[in-house]
Amino acid sequence: MIKKKKPINRLKEKVKTAKKRKASSTRWLQRQLNDPYVKRAQSEGRRSRAAFKLIEIDKKFKLLKMKQTVLDLGAAPGSWTEVIVERTRGRVMGVDKLPMDAIDGAELLQFDLMDQESFEELKNIIDGKVDLVLSDMASETTGHKPTDHIRTQGLAELAADYAINFLNPGGAFCSKVFHGGAHDILLKLLKENFTEIKHYKPPASRKESPENYVIAKNFKK
Ligand SMILES: C[S@@+](CC[C@H](N)C(=O)[O-])C[C@H]1O[C@@H](n2cnc3c(N)ncnc32)[C@H](O)[C@@H]1O
Repeated sequence: MIKKKKPINRLKEKVKTAKKRKASSTRWLQRQLNDPYVKRAQSEGRRSRAAFKLIEIDKKFKLLKMKQTVLDLGAAPGSWTEVIVERTRGRVMGVDKLPMDAIDGAELLQFDLMDQESFEELKNIIDGKVDLVLSDMASETTGHKPTDHIRTQGLAELAADYAINFLNPGGAFCSKVFHGGAHDILLKLLKENFTEIKHYKPPASRKESPENYVIAKNFKK
């Protein structure tokens, strides 16, 4: 008698709901296990799937160039910083309020960018100007959408302020924003200071996430 082979389950990995695990954690785990970007990040040895967002942004907007000086704001755990080092081999500074494991070729700085002292200290460390300011800064989500939105937009404005203070003429800026894109105050600020402004949601950014990126090129001053 021919034994029927058990069908191989090629469907999505399912996560059993453990008694103590919240439904939201189960959903998160299930999404992680089935996310092709998570799998690719693991196989390529990247620190997080966020690396692919920058790779996709750079494919479209050609922001990263050899020997640039780059400021990466909200850099932890460091997957963007690693991509920047790989693609520029220039001076790369990654800043976050959280600590990060060392990255060869990058200066990692632990500052809360909201603090005025951080601005002054960073200014001394940079000791000149930079060619590109990137920000993937995000606050911890509360689940209350208006609060998360306001906080992330506040961080994008903060990042734009750093860019305006530290960029060389002709430099570029890219920041995470929420929903439709840069809100009015930020957009006005960018229009005053850059000649080219675009919005982009890279495919690696989850569809259900309100996250989006604003890319501003050719700093005027
Ligand atoms: C989405 S993560 C960045 C991921 C990173 N681009 C990567 O590829 O590994 C957002 C980061 O923003 C940082 N952040 C949020 N507010 C900050 C602040 N005020 N100062 C510095 N970093 C901040 C968080 O600590 C967090 O590590």
